Formats: sequence, structure tokens, C-alpha cells
Amino acid sequence: MKTVVVLAYLVALAWAGTVPVSPFNTEVKTLPIDSLTKEKQYKVLELFEAINQVNKNAGYYKVGKEYDIKSNNEHYKNKEVVEKFFKLYEQGFLPRFSLFSIFDIKMKSEAKALYDLSYYAKDFDTFYKTAAWARVHLNEGYFAYSFYVALIQRVDTKDMVFPKSLLLWPKLYINTETFSKIYYSKMRGSPFESFEEYGIEQADNYYFYYTNYSDYHTYGHNEYKLAYLTEDISWNNFYTYYHTVAPFWEHGDKILSGLFKERRGEYYYYFYQQLMARYYLERLSNGLGEIPRFSWYQPFKYGYYPLLTSNFYPFAQRPNNYVMQTEKNLDDLRFVRNYEDNFLNFLEKGQFKAYNQEVDLYNSKSINFVGNYWQANPDLYEKVSPNHYHRSYEMAARRILGGAPYRYKDYIYVPTALNFYQTSLRDPAFYQIYNKILGFISSTRGTCSHILRILYTILALGQRVKISKLVTLFDIHPFNASNSVVFSVSELVAPKKSFMVLQPRLNKEPFTVKINVKSDVEEQATFKIFIGPKYDGKGFPIKVEDNWMNFVQLDWFNHKLMKGENLIERSSEDFFHFKEDSLSIDEIYKLLDKNQLPVDMNKNYDDMPKRLMLPRGTKSGFPLQFFIFVYPSIALSKEMESFKHSLLDDKPFGYPLDRPVSSFFVQPNMYFKDADVYHKGSEYPYSFEDVYHTNEVSKH
Ligand SMILES: *[C@@H]1O[C@H](CO)[C@@H](O)[C@H](O)[C@H]1NC(C)=O
Ligand SMILES: *[C@@H]1O[C@H](CO)[C@@H](O)[C@H](O)[C@H]1NC(C)=O
Repeated sequence: MKTVVVLAYLVALAWAGTVPVSPFNTEVKTLPIDSLTKEKQYKVLELFEAINQVNKNAGYYKVGKEYDIKSNNEHYKNKEVVEKFFKLYEQGFLPRFSLFSIFDIKMKSEAKALYDLSYYAKDFDTFYKTAAWARVHLNEGYFAYSFYVALIQRVDTKDMVFPKSLLLWPKLYINTETFSKIYYSKMRGSPFESFEEYGIEQADNYYFYYTNYSDYHTYGHNEYKLAYLTEDISWNNFYTYYHTVAPFWEHGDKILSGLFKERRGEYYYYFYQQLMARYYLERLSNGLGEIPRFSWYQPFKYGYYPLLTSNFYPFAQRPNNYVMQTEKNLDDLRFVRNYEDNFLNFLEKGQFKAYNQEVDLYNSKSINFVGNYWQANPDLYEKVSPNHYHRSYEMAARRILGGAPYRYKDYIYVPTALNFYQTSLRDPAFYQIYNKILGFISSTRGTCSHILRILYTILALGQRVKISKLVTLFDIHPFNASNSVVFSVSELVAPKKSFMVLQPRLNKEPFTVKINVKSDVEEQATFKIFIGPKYDGKGFPIKVEDNWMNFVQLDWFNHKLMKGENLIERSSEDFFHFKEDSLSIDEIYKLLDKNQLPVDMNKNYDDMPKRLMLPRGTKSGFPLQFFIFVYPSIALSKEMESFKHSLLDDKPFGYPLDRPVSSFFVQPNMYFKDADVYHKGSEYPYSFEDVYHTNEVSKH
């Protein structure tokens, strides 16, 4: 692996001249690829270009136009999927230019039918032709979604990288205000000396738009303070990726070659626990306290006006004190309450007996079942007939709290932020729904505790853990929103203008953690580093028994310990659960020309970007605590080897904080260390003035 400098943004900014930005993605780790992968990668990327339009000059066009799936049905491992697809397709599919939502039951089944074609294609060639066919004939959302997930799930595409969702659908990541400016500049075209009056800067082939996050007016309550996180492009992109790894609608046998099935529900819990813990830290740093709780029987306090728009309709707005008890919601409301009550009944009995399954909640493996219950994925229903009456709690909750008007026709609907993975994290209701689900799941966790004492006597963590200064800041990262406009035929062929959104984004400076471990034996050990809150929303110190679920796992690594003292130093830049920000299609092309691909986009595409590692600090320091844990290494089982980029061993996710702990929890192989996060420059992202000063961007 070697490090290559990606110059794209740098060059862009050098041309831009006066635009003060600090290029973010200047260096990425790359891996070499062979010529076959290169050829396939070009084909895959081309399919994603200008996703809202069909380009008749593109390589895929002729392939897609000429390919006939039906007459090639022997090229699919499962011929039934071809039949099933056409049965649906002939009845009519979502029209082009309409917004696709995986949370809509009809659209979900259509997208799944298309996905199955891609998944069961016998070889890459058939897969490519199927994709090209879909690209030319179907709604762009269906195509991109099904193709994307298939690329992740298929074995013959695992060496490839895919463009991030935010470059494909920039409109789902930017407020209408900015979108209008983009639209204006596209229509007006340059040269136009008065662009600046409209808040648009132009330089050569670039338009730049400074953008603020939504403010008090969007929310009408204090949750707006977190908009710099909840509207962050990478935060939302992270959630979108999460979903593609183990889509809720797919059977566990078909996800990641079936290897993940026994841990799928557990992962569901872990993912949301980590997301909520990270979010909670941000709330605390902003003085917002606990994630509010809500009841299905009371009006929902927190309104939300997403300033987003689809091609046809603006996103629905939910007022403060939104009354859920409407006729439209009655059915869904009854369902979610009933689903909760059912769960509580089973919990009380200590045993789950439904869907032809019997699960002992005292068994530590029951977490997988419980996770499946809340995700309502097909694994939950696998022992009953495939036609089982099947409803999803998450989908019902999203429908109720989305607050969209009644829909009267298939495919025609007013979208809500909760309809899409790309926009869900913007809505305060999202966190309240999932926090509720986590509460149910963790109530089962009390029944099985770790037997820590017996296993861990060999390694003792010394008294010395040193953490260098933790600093956060806002800096500007350009975001290429070009795909939010429509291009003319000539623009599709020639190099296009770039529409760049400039927004201050949370970032952190690199830091190090030094750990001193005294060991009695020479042994391979595994380390984990977590951060968690020190004080709760009311300012009281939190005891570990009440705090275990609030820790975010930052790092995970193996280290060979020598007898005696061992000094280990870890840099935040090497932390296990974080990746570099992804590159744009153009940047990937540049690397491809050199037979390289970015490592992180291939192996760790579903990790959180590094810059969101720490919650925003304060001037006087936001207090949190590090938790460091060391235990004897246990190698990953052979069959799980293929997950080595996201797992180091077969212990539960989040171990040892994956379940409630008692006050006796703290052992010599663990260490809590207080640390403060400081913020450099303005604490408020809308003070651009400050961004200039703190970054000291050199002028080109
Ligand atoms: C962003 O907000 C600040 C503070 O309210 C304001 O001065 C600035 O003009 C806004 N920028 C844009 C592009 O709206
Ligand atoms: C921005 O995206 C468009 C469309 O994908 C592309 O043509 C253009 O080169 C990109 N610009 C930059 C600077 O990456």
C-alpha cells in the first residue's frame, strides 16, 4: 500500500483563487489493482455517472438497450427471480424522476425483485448487462439502490469501490435554499458579473455556494443546535452505508454469504447503540441533556421542517406538539403499541415463543433474536410460511412520526425525512424512535452478565494512561453537488461545470493515547478504547452501571505484550472504526488511471469518517472519559476471516460494554481516564469569519 496525493480538490481550489477553503481529501491510502478489476471498475463507475439522466453516448447505453433478460434466463442462478421480476414489471413500476423510498412496501418489493436479478446473475458479465438494462429502462432510484446493494453483497465485486450516496443524490443532503442557488446559476450560466449578489461565487469551471445549517426557524426548539451534526453529509452518508451491509428486507442466508446471520440482530443493536451514544455526547456538549422520550398516547413535542425537496414535492413538515392520533395513523398506532406490549409480555416470561421459535431470553445468544424482532427482518419469520403476515415496527414508527399527509395513489407521496436513509438522521424524531427500541432491547440484556473475573487475571493495566490534547474545530469542506442539476446532451459528454457547496464541518485534530500495561506473561493481547460521558444531562457524574450503554468504541487492536511494562501508543488516525472521507467519481478515475483504488472506500466504506470522532468541544473543555480495556487475544474463527476489516475476534460487538455491568465491574485490566475536549475557533458553525482565521488558509 502506498500513499498517493489526490490533487483534484487542490487543483480546483488553486483555480478558484479567492475562495478560502481547506482541501480535505489530500491524501488517501491506495491499493494496487489488476487489469481485470480495473476494467470492471470503469464499467461500474460509468453506470453511476449523472444518475438522473440516461446518457446515450455512454458505454452502458447500447448494452442496456440490446440486452434481453427473459431470453437470457439461463444466466441467472435462480430462474424464478426473472419470472417474478417481470410479473411485477409488467404491472408498472415507479416512474422515472420519482423519489424512491425503501420504506414504502410496494417500492420495496419492486426494488427487491430487481435486486434479486442482480444478485442471482451467474457471472459479472450478466450482472453488468442486467445493471445496464435497468439503468436504461427503470427509475434511477431503483437502479442505483439495487445495483449498489448487489455490488456489496456479490462475491465477484468485492474488490471494487462505489461512489458515495451523497454524490449521487446531493439534493437529499442540501437545503432548498442552496439548491435554488445552484439551480439559478445553472440556468443563468456564466459569465454574469452579479452572481455574488445572489450569494454565488464563480471561478473558472466552478460555482461555489456558502451554506449554513438549518437554524431555530427550521425546528422551533433547541434541537437546532445539533444541526451541524444531524445535517452533516458524512453523518448521513454513514447511516446510508450501514443499511446496505445488511439490508433489513433480505434473508440472513443471503447477506454477506450467510456468514453474518447469527450476528445480524446483535449487530443491529450494536450499530444503533453506537449511533445513539455518539449522538448523546453531542447533545451533552450542547447542553441539551438526555434524548427526550415520547409516548404513542401523547402529542409528539418535537416538530421538524426539513428544508429539503424532491423533484415534485417539498418534504413534509411536522409541527411541534404533533398529534399522532389521526384516522390515518390509527392502524399503525395500534400496531406499534401492540408490538411493544407483546415484547414486554415475552420479557416478563423470560421466554420468547412466537413465529414457530422458542427463545430463552437468559441465553446470551438471544440478543440476535431480539435484534431481529425489532428489525422485523425475514430471519424472524423464517420458521413460518413465507406468506406470513409481516409488518415492521420501524416502518410503522417512521410513517407515524414522518407526519406526511394521507397518500391517495401509489408512487405519489409527500416525502418525509424519515422515508430515506439519507435524510433520517436529520429529524430529532429519529433518535427518539431508536432510543426507544434500544431501551427495549437492553432490558433483555440484564439477564446475562459477563463472567469477567475468571478470564482476566493475567494482564494488568498500569496506572498510566496519557491522552494528548483533544481539539475540535469547524473547517470548510467542499461538497460536489453537481448531480442535483440536469445536464444538456453536450454537457453529458464534455467536462461539466462543478457546483460546489461550502459548509463548515466538524473536525478534530489528531491525538494520541498512550497506554502503559504491566503483564505477567508474554502474550498477544487485544485492546479497546472507548469514550463516554462523564456527567449526565443534569451535570451529575454518571456511575458505570448507568453509563455502560453510552460508550462509543473508537479503537480496537492487537498487540503482543512482553513480560513487564509495555508502552503502547495509538494515534487517532489509525483508530480501527474510522475511515478517510470518500473520494468523488472523478478522483477515483484519476487513481484508476494509475491502477490504484482507495483502500478505505473498498474495505472500510461503512466506517464513520475520522473527522466526526469526537463530540464538539467547548472553550473551557467538554468533559468525557476514556475507557481502556485489554484482554487476551482470541483469533477470529476461520469462517469469519473475511470480516477481518471490521472484526478482530468473535466476542460480542462492543464487548465488554455490550451488556449491563455492576459496580464490581472495574478490574485491573480496565482503566477509566477523564479527558476534556476543547474547541478551537467559534463554537457556532455559522461564523464563517472565524473559519477564515482559525484555518489560516494560504491564498493561491
Ligand atoms: C450564515 O449565517 C450567518 C449568521 O447568521 C450570516 O451572517 C451569513 O450571511 C449566512 N450565510 C448564508 C450563506 O446564508
Ligand atoms: C463534480 O461532479 C461532476 C458530476 O459528477 C463532475 O463532472 C465534476 O468533474 C466534479 N467536480 C469535481 C471538482 O470533482
